[in-house]
Amino acid sequence: MHKWLVILHSLGACVWIGGHLLLSLKYLPESLRLKNQEIILSFERKFEKIGIPALLIQLISGIGLMHLYHISWFDFSTQIASIISIKFILIIITILLAVHARFFIIPKLQPSNLKLLSFHIITVTIISIIMLFLGISVRFGL
Ligand code: HEM
Repeated sequence: MHKWLVILHSLGACVWIGGHLLLSLKYLPESLRLKNQEIILSFERKFEKIGIPALLIQLISGIGLMHLYHISWFDFSTQIASIISIKFILIIITILLAVHARFFIIPKLQPSNLKLLSFHIITVTIISIIMLFLGISVRFGL
């Protein structure tokens, strides 16, 4: 069970982090340079079909792993518990940022509010890398 949860969790991480690195390093700079929001919108339309399921898989498999480690919600009593609780808080922040971008920024995206979307994209990408670091730290320590 533990092995399959880690496989699922790692697969979700590949999709989520890989997609955001591609967006941050290729499509976002291109879109800002050409002042063309369509470049990001076209990527988002394709990526959300696998990106959203990947994020949900992270959340569900992460909660499964949390239970396997016998850790309860917002437990900061040991290093492993703190790492996992921080990951849980970070995924909530990620979901809030994703919902805000998807429903409040993307529907009326113009060259003038590209900067606000850039902030979201860069923040979510950095959080995803921190999640990777924290995930690996469960086994290896901080
Ligand atoms: C975008 C979200 C996330 C990403 C990118 C991510 C990434 C990772 C990665 C790369 C690992 C290392 C896998 C391994 O080799 O063991 C990992 C492990 C882990 N993650 Fe996450 N994670 C995310 C969300 C979560 C959430 C929400 C939780 C729980 C609330 C969580 C709990 C864990 C646990 C407990 C491990 C240790 C698994 C083990 O080594 O046995 N993760 N995560």
